[in-house]
Amino acid sequence: TSGGDCQALNAAMRGVAKTLFNAKEDVEIYGFLDGYKGLIYGKFRMLTGSDFSGILTKGGTILGSSRMPFKLMREPDENGLNKVEAMKQNYHKLQLDCLVILGGNGTHKTANLLKEEGLNIKTIDNALWGTDMTFGFQSAVNIATEAIDNIHTTAASHGRVFIIEVMGHKVGFLTLNAGMAGGADVILIPEIPYDINKVIDAIKERHDRGSRFTILAVAEGAISKEDAKLSKKEYKKKLENYTYPSVSYEIADQIAKKSGMEVRVTVPGHTQRGGTPCPYDRVFASRLGSEAGKLILKGEYGFMVGYKNREIVKVPLEEVAGKLKMVDPGSSIVKEAKMLGISFGD
Ligand code: F6P
Repeated sequence: TSGGDCQALNAAMRGVAKTLFNAKEDVEIYGFLDGYKGLIYGKFRMLTGSDFSGILTKGGTILGSSRMPFKLMREPDENGLNKVEAMKQNYHKLQLDCLVILGGNGTHKTANLLKEEGLNIKTIDNALWGTDMTFGFQSAVNIATEAIDNIHTTAASHGRVFIIEVMGHKVGFLTLNAGMAGGADVILIPEIPYDINKVIDAIKERHDRGSRFTILAVAEGAISKEDAKLSKKEYKKKLENYTYPSVSYEIADQIAKKSGMEVRVTVPGHTQRGGTPCPYDRVFASRLGSEAGKLILKGEYGFMVGYKNREIVKVPLEEVAGKLKMVDPGSSIVKEAKMLGISFGD
């Protein structure tokens, strides 16, 4: 398990293990600790059936995880160790048949690199490209939605503007879904750059109609129209002198200054990745894990197991590596949200 964790990683591992243990008697499973670091530095332990018992409902990962940017993978560590070679050596030393890797976009890039280096790789979707759904997503939507639900009552009491900042890095699926589920009035996502004046117009319109409060679901990667026009270099420069903790605070400041309204920001942050996986994710991750186990039994490697058009599918790793799936601003869900009266500030 590598990169940022999410709910149902354990359920997915359990799905792989149960499928293999049920099909064969001579299966040996080793768990590498803290993601690729475990493979690089040979930190692992043998896992038996009991390790996978009781973990279906457990959030996080029993193996631990760590982030290792792809760029650093190719660079030697502080002691001059070649990480890719070290991973290959440990793989061969243990005479592994294959590596099962669970993680997001960065993780898949490294998985593809190891595949190119000749290792047998099987990944399970937690990345976005090549799959309609990722496990952990529904659980995160539930938590972000609950945060918005909880804000509703206090917002109504005080008649303020509330911003709930939702995770998702540069992608707005989580904000869009939690925003709609929580009845947010304004949803700002990276894929639809906002105009702060339009956001304020939406708040004023609500106010004029007699609503005492407005709730904004803002993606942590939300970006204004002006910033979206900046070159990468210019944007980086802007961030160097940025004084707000995150974009929501900048938006809050602008709304307060321009409209005189009282604004509050809530950032549920990593709670969105924590806790118990919801039933949907438990089933979904178990299914993906089981399919991964099936492919391993057949000796089919080099794929990510994902979900397309309501089917569990295998997607070649090279099609996934380094790609990001984003919200299509012209998609029907965005159109429907707009028809419901939700402002995207565009
Ligand atoms: O990529 C998943 C994610 O949860 C993003 O939504 C968020 O920006 C990032 O990870 C946070 O990373 P970290 O856990 O390293 O702080």
